[in-house]
Order: sequence, then structure tokens, then C-alpha cells
Amino acid sequence: MIQDPILLNDWHAVLPVSELDEKNGVAGARIMGEDIVIWRSGDQILAWKDLCIHRGTRLSLGEVRDGDKLMCPYHGWTYDSDGQCVKIPAHPEQTPPTKAKAFTYHAAVKYDMVWVCLGEPEHKIPVFEEWEDDSYRKILCGSYKFNAAGPRMVENFLDVAHFPFVHENILGTQDRPEIPDYDVVTDENGVTASDIRVFQPNPDGTGVPNWVTYTYKVYRPLVAYFRKEAEQKFAILLMVTPIEELESLMWMWMVMTHGEGTDETLRAFQDEIALQDLPIVQSQRPELLPLDLQDELHLRSDKTAIAYRKWLNNLGLTFGTS
Ligand code: FES
Ligand SMILES: [Fe+2]
Repeated sequence: MIQDPILLNDWHAVLPVSELDEKNGVAGARIMGEDIVIWRSGDQILAWKDLCIHRGTRLSLGEVRDGDKLMCPYHGWTYDSDGQCVKIPAHPEQTPPTKAKAFTYHAAVKYDMVWVCLGEPEHKIPVFEEWEDDSYRKILCGSYKFNAAGPRMVENFLDVAHFPFVHENILGTQDRPEIPDYDVVTDENGVTASDIRVFQPNPDGTGVPNWVTYTYKVYRPLVAYFRKEAEQKFAILLMVTPIEELESLMWMWMVMTHGEGTDETLRAFQDEIALQDLPIVQSQRPELLPLDLQDELHLRSDKTAIAYRKWLNNLGLTFGTS
């Protein structure tokens, strides 16, 4: 396990609940270099170290028994929802030793995703303001696997000055690449950048180029958000799963009050954007996000990134940073 107290005691979005259900209620995942098994026990979702105490087999290869127990695939040791082994099939007469216990983590479900905390949660899972609002259509995009550090990926999400270049004619145009000044505030809830204006070739689907105003928020080191300030509401919650320091998954809840087309078409749009970012972010050196503002060069248009780096530095984040 990679030691970083900030992220160890934080919640991480790991996989969609639907994916767990497709896998008969047992799935493997990896966060911060740690293999975990996620499984459904009755109406609870649990996350444990992906290891059977008997011979070290992956419990994620096992199966749910009686609806609320997890059976190891190797010799059938069966664990209850507390992680206690309650059955050793080779010795049916024997009560399993109390030491025969799985190593448990915290798990929760929010935004139809399973979230896991490897330590003791110090914060709540961030509030995605649009989630409870039924007027929004909600589409999960991803996961997109990046061979990159999570903080580099979040910073890319916060960066609007790359739109005319990386997402040319979609999110920006090289005819109007300028980024007017905007406001950034950092407080105990993270970073909020507001009144960020970007000139876009077709912001509302009418084909008329215009300015668009965004609000960006960073809730946690690997959870961020933006919304478009327009009549037609559009927002994204970004969740980065830190698999290893330089290997991450990017998930995005895209929500909107309008939007023609099927979920597949809208997801394909986001796939295209993500695939445009991928080679850029994977190419960045150093791979770890430098938190010393003397490193790399910063401009006024990088204000959100500057605030993000400062905030991470104040938190003392070491994972994915240098
Ligand atoms: S390794 Fe799991 S039951 Fe033997
Ligand atoms: Fe991008």
C-alpha cells in the first residue's frame, strides 16, 4: 500500500455498482497499490483486502454464498460480513479460529459508485449538487485509464487554456484562445474558481460561437467538478481512482438538463475528449505534479492550477506529487 495519510483517509470512487452486479456481486479493484475485493453481502457493499488468510488466494475470484457470505475459490473458506471465517469445509466439525479473518476497509455507495477508504475517513464523500435534482439527465462516462498521476489528471480537468489546442473546434477555437481573468477562492471545502470564460465554437448546439462561463470546484485531491453557467445546465463530477501513483482511472458523471441523443452518443462525445487529453497528460514530465510554485511556469490563466497546487501542498499531499 502506498503511504499517504491524506489519501489513505479519503474516499475513492472505485467502480460503478452496476459493474459489481454484472459480476455476480464480487469484483476486484486496486487502489494505491492495494488489491481489494468489493462484494455485496445482503444490502451492504463491503471492501476487504483481496486476500484469503489461508493461502493468500484472491477473494475476488470467489463467490457470494447464501446471499451474505463470501467463499474463497481455493478451499472454500467462507467469510461472513464482518470478515470472520465461519466455515472451513475440510473440517466441518471445527469452529474456524478467530484469527481466520479478512482485513476490512470502509465502503460506501454514493452516486451509483462504490467508494472505498483504506484508512479512517476524515471527510465525507463530496456533495454533487446536481445529483438529487430529477431535472438532470445523468450519464456515467469512463473509466478512462491513464498512465499518469491522479493530480496531473485533475489539473488537466481544471485547465481551460488547453481547450483551443487539445479540443480544437469542440471546446475552443484557436481564433479566440484568450482566457480573461477570473476569481479563485480556497477555503476548508477546497478550491472554487468562478467566472471562467472561454470562447467556444458551438456552445449550445445552435452553431453560433460564443463565450461560455464555467465554475470549477476541487472538493478533494482527486475529486473535482465544473458546471457551465448557462440556461441549459451542464455539469461534470470528476472522480479519479488512484490505482498506483502513476496509473489512474478517470470517471465522470456528466449531467445535463437538455441534450439530444442517446446516452451512447453523449458518452462517445466525452470519450473523444478524454482520448484527446490522454496522450498530453501521459507525456507530462515530471510525471508527479510539482507543488513548489518555483517549478514550471505559471500565468494568470493558470490561477486554478496554482490554487490547486498550493492547496495540495498545504494539505501535505505526497501521493502523485513532487
Ligand atoms: S486459500 Fe482461501 S480457502 Fe484456502
Ligand atoms: Fe482536456
